[in-house]
Amino acid sequence: MIIKYTAPLRGELSIPGDKSISHRSVMFGALADGTTEVTNFLTGADCLSTISCFRQMGIEIEQKDTHVLIHGKGLHGLKAPSEILDAGNSGTTVRLLSGILAGQNFDSVITGDETIQKRPMKRVMTPLANMGADVTSVRGNGCAPLQIHGKRLHGAHYDSPVASAQVKSCILLAGLYADGITSVTEPAVSRNHSELMLQYFGANVRADMDKESSAVRKAGAESLSEVSGSCPAGTTAAGFTVSIFPEPKLTGQKICVPGDISSAAYFIAAALLVPGSELLLKNVGINPTRDGMLRVCREMGADITLLNEDHSGAEPCADLLVRSSHLKAVEIGGDIIPALIDELPVLAVLAAFADGTTVIKDAAELRVKESDRIAVMAENLNRIGCPVEATKDGMIITGGKPLHGTVIDSHMDHRIALSFAVAALACEGETDIQGAEIVNISYPGFYDDLAGVCR
Ligand code: S3P
Repeated sequence: MIIKYTAPLRGELSIPGDKSISHRSVMFGALADGTTEVTNFLTGADCLSTISCFRQMGIEIEQKDTHVLIHGKGLHGLKAPSEILDAGNSGTTVRLLSGILAGQNFDSVITGDETIQKRPMKRVMTPLANMGADVTSVRGNGCAPLQIHGKRLHGAHYDSPVASAQVKSCILLAGLYADGITSVTEPAVSRNHSELMLQYFGANVRADMDKESSAVRKAGAESLSEVSGSCPAGTTAAGFTVSIFPEPKLTGQKICVPGDISSAAYFIAAALLVPGSELLLKNVGINPTRDGMLRVCREMGADITLLNEDHSGAEPCADLLVRSSHLKAVEIGGDIIPALIDELPVLAVLAAFADGTTVIKDAAELRVKESDRIAVMAENLNRIGCPVEATKDGMIITGGKPLHGTVIDSHMDHRIALSFAVAALACEGETDIQGAEIVNISYPGFYDDLAGVCR
């Protein structure tokens, strides 16, 4: 795919449905009684993998483009798959499904493509084992394929060392099948779509969005002073806790999936970078656990206006009006990281064109995504002429110099290909993206949408 500047980005665009919410709509719809109707479903390859796994377990799913009907069979309605479940490239599918599969009365094996078979699964195997589950890595390397011997699970508490919505959601889903309350504490708030959607389907889920009430509840205490008195300093208010009660009756729902802010991110960045752009992105999800990119862009000096703020079910959404802006460097780190984890590659591109030195830290999770996104971003940004130092948990990016198009290796990571399609518009000359078709994982139709607004 060869990309070069043609014209500013103008007009309006509807962004495809949110990937995380689309996955969950199929999973929770399958476990609910009755039919779940989903509109604006993301037809990216990852979400289609989730559909095919549930079809393999006897769930009837009718899909016509972005309209999906899931004929749920209740919490105990899945049947044993006759073949290995294939999650393709989707980490969300493997990790969330592991939690469901661990509590079934049948055995299963789940795996995925070459990339998935290299991604860490111990992060879900450990908390599941804590609940009495029997999940083993077939090759003994902590990665998929995972052999899952379904069992009755125990309610338990888990202190997660990583802020990961996939880990948290896996535990909550296993908690549906446990014999008591299950809870998980994470060091910073990760995306809360599972909590919101499980509540919407009728589950009893409690989430504390501040560390103090989290600590109080975790300790079963009445107040923070009571907790602090009984625990060593600094160990109580150390995270955000979510808990779930087992065996709820989930009921099928109507879900209109908001546009994916992680996909909108590429158009936000492109419109900010290309002079003369003014672009309206319609119906984008702006859940506060996902909107870190908007907050950072504003700090960089971006002109972004939220219009028509509304809700789609429990999920907040809005139209975003983006105008090209002169950007300056920022520091990105701390608790905001989970709220923009998937946007860090495209934020690194913005940093490359911003005045000054941007520091990204506390983002070691980037090393275990679809590629090592710290190494791959540094390699490709260096290739277009931007000085970048990769650190153990981030990058130091010296921005503001004119950059030039060249050959980019996507390492078959969709967010790398998408990020450099944006960079290409602000580079001199042409950019040749190798493995450009990988964008289909999260954004089929991306190149057509881009061509449609460059006018
Ligand atoms: C996701 C959670 C995040 C994110 C991924 C989707 C989800 O992963 O990077 O693209 O749908 O729960 P982690 O949970 O590993 O942070």
